[in-house]
This record gives sequence, structure tokens and C-alpha cells, in this order.
Amino acid sequence: MANQLCIVLDFGGQYNQLIARRVRECGVYCEIKRFDTPIDEIKAMKPMGIIFTGGPNSVYDESSPHIAREIFELGIPILGICYGCQLMAYTLGGTVSPCDISEYGMTDTYYDKDCVLFGAVDDLPQKATSWMSHTDFISQVPEGFTVAAHTDNCPTAAMYNKEKKLYAVQFHPEVSHTAGGLGMLDSFLKNVCGFSGDWKMDNFIENTVAELREKIGDKKVILGLSGGVDSSVAAGLLSRAVGKQLTCVFVDQGLMRKDEGDFVEETFTKMFDMNFIRVNAKEHFLEKLKGVTDPEKKRKIIGAEFINVFWDEVRKDDELGFFAQGTIYPDRIESGKGNKAGEGSSDVIKTHHNTVIPEDMLDKFAGVIEPLADLFKDEVRAVGEKLGIPHELVWRQPFPGPGLGVRIIGEITEEKIKILQEADAVFRDEIRKSGIESELKQFFAVLPDVHTVGVMGDHRTYDHLIAIRAITTDDFMTADWARIPYDILARVSNRLCNEVEHVNRVVYDITSKPPGTVEWE
Ligand code: XMP
Repeated sequence: MANQLCIVLDFGGQYNQLIARRVRECGVYCEIKRFDTPIDEIKAMKPMGIIFTGGPNSVYDESSPHIAREIFELGIPILGICYGCQLMAYTLGGTVSPCDISEYGMTDTYYDKDCVLFGAVDDLPQKATSWMSHTDFISQVPEGFTVAAHTDNCPTAAMYNKEKKLYAVQFHPEVSHTAGGLGMLDSFLKNVCGFSGDWKMDNFIENTVAELREKIGDKKVILGLSGGVDSSVAAGLLSRAVGKQLTCVFVDQGLMRKDEGDFVEETFTKMFDMNFIRVNAKEHFLEKLKGVTDPEKKRKIIGAEFINVFWDEVRKDDELGFFAQGTIYPDRIESGKGNKAGEGSSDVIKTHHNTVIPEDMLDKFAGVIEPLADLFKDEVRAVGEKLGIPHELVWRQPFPGPGLGVRIIGEITEEKIKILQEADAVFRDEIRKSGIESELKQFFAVLPDVHTVGVMGDHRTYDHLIAIRAITTDDFMTADWARIPYDILARVSNRLCNEVEHVNRVVYDITSKPPGTVEWE
């Protein structure tokens, strides 16, 4: 897709996607490939530079990922990071030994500014902080290499062979704690590899629209729109490319947030050129969910019915053209993680949950189109902004596929959906007004299906309890409950009891993940 390509070779480290993001921040297009990608395949991609990532293994462990020496003989500049650094040393005849003192975290590092990685970073002092995480170290560099950085405990924090264009750093330049780290990557890419650094989102939109037009020709395209960021941006791009040849099918299961279905419809019918079909399936979903209280059963029903309703709508058309979906890069990355020899290393590709095309539909399509398949989430958002998709959609917090269905405990009824939608809208409004929205990764209301006694005016009430949840997290794998100031919680509680019918009590969920999950069901 881009003329100038950098390959990030994945050895299973935890920062691999971050490395790729940083490379793109330098204006260089890059793709992540598994460490065991055949050399011929790498050569055929004609990369101008290769970066070896870190990884959890020790190069001396037989089962750890290794690489053929040939890769260093292709004349392609290589930067090794952490494990990648040790692997370069080991493969080229240097010595890697266990550390007496392992280094982890911020570490004072002394740089040799004669090395272009560091010399080209103007604001990098000779002594600066780097982010380390290693238990082995390079005790002897391979022949032809020069040490370019050290720490108090590690004699080889960086090494290079200028003539062969091979560079390696023991620390993690991609992590923001490494002072000047981005500049080091930039210097490797521009000064060593010779990248022009002009890969930008604007080019991406222009090129992708042109490619889509060429591929689609005069055929039709169908896209399932969920109102989430990825499918919305894919819809925006396709609309720009082929206008009315695109049909978006939006299944409203009645479990979205207050007014959300209308907002999605209005956005895509008013702002974009396309055919838009909204399937109002609330009654159908409620019917299927009647009497069901088990969380897993509810999830399964909602998921299965969503697919049924969507394909029943799509099936109506005899000639469908292409099927498009908003798969993004992290959905399809092949991770090098856990690649111990013989440990099923080829089956770790994640598949996007939308890729469920029923057998009988396969032949009806000319092919699958995934216009965002090379982008990271924040790049998808940047494209969305440039396409003019409303901020509210582009920066939407994650919303689970089963929608409010996982936030209504017990049986889902129309009345409960209404109460929860109202409560959630009040909570969101108050958070927005209080100015702390950007500090929270996700916040929402839950209807636990609990009634408690209260008093309103002179009357005894026996009504619903609302729980509110707000979390901070980096990756949603672990999360902490947000320390929302008491006065904001007080306003939320007041408004919920006063403004939302059938709510007479409010609790704040102070459970982290683990042991809790983010959603209640
Ligand atoms: P949990 O509850 O597993 O949630 O801690 C982690 C993140 O995933 C979202 N989530 C879902 N997203 N389909 C989705 O697309 C689902 O079934 C689903 N369940 C949870 C949740 O909102 C949180 O952001």
C-alpha cells in the first residue's frame, strides 16, 4: 500500500504495537510481521528498514524465537530492541550473559553522541533516562560493532555497525519514559534507512478512496453499521469513494443508549451520500429475550439474533457486490507471543467478530473489503475526524455489542430499558458538564434489578436501585474505579433520583478489575 515500507518483526514483546505506532508517528508506513516470516517473503516486500521487537525469552533458550543469519546480510538496515538487540548480538557471534543485577524501569543511561541514533536527537543529553526491562545483557559485542551507550549495570545499552547499518538498543525507545526515544527511532528511519517520512493520514484517505473506486468499479457494497467508531469510519470512507453504490445496514436492537439510534441514522443519512437501511428490531429482540435471566444466555441470544436480523435484511438483495467491514489492524495482527517451538505458533490470528458470513451468502459476494485493515485505533479516529464524522461518534467510549443488555440484570423488559436509558443519559450529561469526561475511559449506569424502600415527599417508595460505574484503564484487561469527586457524585445521585422515574437509590461501584469485570454481566 505504501511505496516505502518498514517491517516490525514481532518476537512476542508487549510493546510491539506501540513500536509500530511510533514508526507511523515518524511518517513511515509499517507492518508487523511474525518473527518466523520466511526470508523470501520479507525480501519480496522490499522493506527499507526492519525493526526487531523485544520479547520475553532468553536467546540461549533453545525454544526461544531465533532468526536466520541471512537477514543481516540483505543490506537492509535493522534496529534491534531489547530481546531483538540481544538476538542480533547472539546471531552475529557476540556474547549474551545473565545479568548480575537485572534492570527494570527508568535507568540512567550514558549515550555516545557519535552514533547517529543519539547524535541526531538535539535535546538528548549525554546522560538521560531510558526504560529498561531485561535479565540478560550483551557482555561482548559481535565483531565490527561499537558500543554506543551504557548504564551503571549494563555495559552494552546500545551497539552499532555503521557500515552494515545494523543498530541495537537494550532499552525501549518506543516507551515515553525513554527521553528522546521517538527521536532515536526517527533518526534510524530517516538517517539510516532513508525514509522520506511523508506517510500521512491525508495520503491514506486519498489513496484508499482511489483504491476502493478501482476495486469496486460499478458494483454495489454492503456494510453492517453498528454506530461504533470502526464501522462508522469505514462507512465514511466508502461513502466518499462510491456514494450511493454503498448500502449501510444498521440493526437497532433497541438496546442502545438513549437517542443513539436516531443519532446514527441522522449522521449517516444527512452527512453522507449512501443508502441507509435502519432495521428497527426492538420488538423482535424483546420477544426472544422474554423470561431469560441467565447472563450468558442473554448474550448468546442477542449475538445470534443480531446476525440473523442483519443477514435477513441483506439476503433480500439478489446482487450484492462486495461485503465491507470495519476490521482494524489490531483485529488481524498475527502475534509472535508464546512462540515456543511447537507451541501452535500459527493459530493466534484474531478474527473480527463480524466476519461471520453465512455459507449460503458467500457466493453472492464479489469479495470482502476492509478499508481500515492497516490502521490502529487512533489512526482510525484521525481518519474519522478528517472525513467529518461527528466528534461524538469518533471518540465514542467502548460500548459492548450486546448493548444495555449486559447492564440490565435479570430479565430485559421495555420498562427496564427505558429506566436505564434515562439514568445513563443523566449520568453522562453530568459527567460531561463537570469536565472530567476525558479522564474516564468508560462510564455508564447499570440496572441491577433490585428494589429498595425510600421516601419521597411524604410517601414511601419501593423502587429501582441504579448503580453507576466509571473506570480508568490502559487496555481494559485491568481497570480501576475512577475517584470521581464526591460533589460530582452527589449531583449525579440527586439528579438520578429526581429526574428518572422509578429510581429511588443510587450506589457507586468501587470494584476494580480484577476481581470485577467492567460490565456487570
Ligand atoms: P469486561 O466486562 O469484560 O469488559 O471487563 C472489558 C471491555 O469490553 C467491553 N465489552 C464488550 N464489547 N462485546 C463488545 O464488543 C461484548 O460482548 C462485550 N462485553 C464487554 C466492555 O464494555 C469493556 O470496554
